[in-house]
Amino acid sequence: MSHSQSDTLLSVRELTVRFGGVLALDGVSFDVRRGEVFTLIGPNGAGKTTVFNLISRIYPPTGGEILWLGEPLTRMPPHAIAAQGIARTFQNIELFEQATVLQNLLIGHHTHRAAGFWADLLFTPAARRSALAARRKAEEMIELLDLQAHRDALVAGLPYGVRKVVELARALCSGPRLLLLDEPSSGLNVEETEDMAWWIRDIRSELGITVLMVEHDMSLVSRVSDRVLAMNQGQVLAQGTPAEVQAHPGVIEAYLGTVDDVASLRRAA
Ligand SMILES: Nc1ncnc2c1ncn2[C@@H]1O[C@H](COP(=O)(O)OP(=O)(O)OP(=O)(O)O)[C@@H](O)[C@H]1O
Ligand SMILES: [Mg+2]
Repeated sequence: MSHSQSDTLLSVRELTVRFGGVLALDGVSFDVRRGEVFTLIGPNGAGKTTVFNLISRIYPPTGGEILWLGEPLTRMPPHAIAAQGIARTFQNIELFEQATVLQNLLIGHHTHRAAGFWADLLFTPAARRSALAARRKAEEMIELLDLQAHRDALVAGLPYGVRKVVELARALCSGPRLLLLDEPSSGLNVEETEDMAWWIRDIRSELGITVLMVEHDMSLVSRVSDRVLAMNQGQVLAQGTPAEVQAHPGVIEAYLGTVDDVASLRRAA
């Protein structure tokens, strides 16, 4: 099956970044298609979060290009990224701990339109409409992700698993076209991971949002991903369906040391 150019939302081309002596990314290329769940896997330090940080424009690449709808993202300032329709969650949850769930979600909407800040303070009719829209969006996400019971609770007092869902809701409040999820299941128990898989599938199927995810839990990866890209030491090892990538000898080797180890593991099983 061939895919036309217009199917591609985000295109990462020969992306390279060097931190001092560390070549964190070394010529990484991949395309994320509209409507898919595309997952980056790879051992610790492979460069997965670095890909997200480059897309978020936290720092510039040393080389290569990121195209968003065909336009170079690397020329846009960081504050323009949310307005482009790209939202993310962080490997270590980033929320305002001393604010309520609802307040955090209203802030999530704000990042989308920083220019409205003064208008909000002056409370013009346009600002009032936009505040209402933000409130509606926040309530909608609370409903969608089943957060009603925690709506007015301070984030600081919430269990870790709930905070992970709040962070997801916060990212969704900006109304993204592309959602970057950095290890959505990290720190979650089996049941919470199961729920997270449902949320991710709902986000794609009900909200029509494209998802680019980093994840270590292979059962979650298999359940929600359309395509998987495996990385190791800043380079691409393999790309394909979850099953194809997990069976790839280079991927197995990167995770488990050597192919001989895997063979002996299989014999022992
Ligand atoms: N800001 C930075 N300054 C210096 N080195 C960095 C920086 N960010 C990442 N690195 C290095 O780049 C490499 C890739 O890191 P990255 O965080 O992208 O890995 P990862 O695949 O997300 O790993 P993990 O699964 O542990 O989260 C590592 O060697 C890391 O130490
Ligand atoms: Mg990481």
